[in-house]
Amino acid sequence: MLVIVEKEYADMCRVAAKMVVDRLRKKPNLVLGLATGSTPVGLYQELIRYHREDGLDFSKVVTFNLDEYIGLPPHHEQSYATFMKTQLFDHINISPENIHIPQGMFGEVNITAFETDPAVTAFCHWYEDEIKRAGGIDIQILGIGGNGHIAFNEPGSSLGSRTRVKTLTEKTRRDNARFFASIDEVPRYAITMGIGTIMEAREVLLLANGEGKAEAVRRSIEGPVTAMCPASMLQMHRKSTIILDQGAASKLSAEFITYG
Ligand code: GLP
Repeated sequence: MLVIVEKEYADMCRVAAKMVVDRLRKKPNLVLGLATGSTPVGLYQELIRYHREDGLDFSKVVTFNLDEYIGLPPHHEQSYATFMKTQLFDHINISPENIHIPQGMFGEVNITAFETDPAVTAFCHWYEDEIKRAGGIDIQILGIGGNGHIAFNEPGSSLGSRTRVKTLTEKTRRDNARFFASIDEVPRYAITMGIGTIMEAREVLLLANGEGKAEAVRRSIEGPVTAMCPASMLQMHRKSTIILDQGAASKLSAEFITYG
């Protein structure tokens, strides 16, 4: 696990973008795992800048997003499909057929029977198979929830889990309520890659900024590997990099590589 502490958010994003750009220049058909949330926005802006100013080519890139809210249609302004379009895809030359985002609408699914609903199960298997057919994810971008979640793998998620439906915790719903008119509008369920799915990526790159993430970051890096802090599983990954700003790194006790 390589932990890099940068002075500010903008520096973190530049370092993260350089890593992604380096991988993409070496492999034009890179399979890129993408995350949503506020954290990766600056990284996406950097990637857009590389595309505009240096002609960075995304035409052969294949993307897989981590997660999507259940019950929001793709065109909903808070769906992750809309987020990806406005924050990245509309501004680079990616081929629409190479974009994969979990489906959030399943018609009249009985929410108490997600585990066994055939349409949901079939979709989850299909998503996992698509990742395999693409050759596996080369580099997976991750943020972290204030409770240590990665994607929507909430505390208690199986460390070997695959793509499936998860119930969102109250903390996650409160954290994400800032994007909705009220907390009542925040979906209660999401479809998410599992921790096992994420662990199969050849490389993972987790970004975190701000003091609000400091405790989750400390538990992920210095705490025991535990399902109660899903990001702690990255300690078991063979190639993980964590890029932090000083706020997010403020509760770490060990010394890590510091730039900036
Ligand atoms: C969201 C997403 C995660 C994200 C996290 C942190 O709910 N499902 O993929 O990493 O919460 O979000 P933010 O970057 O806005 O703090």
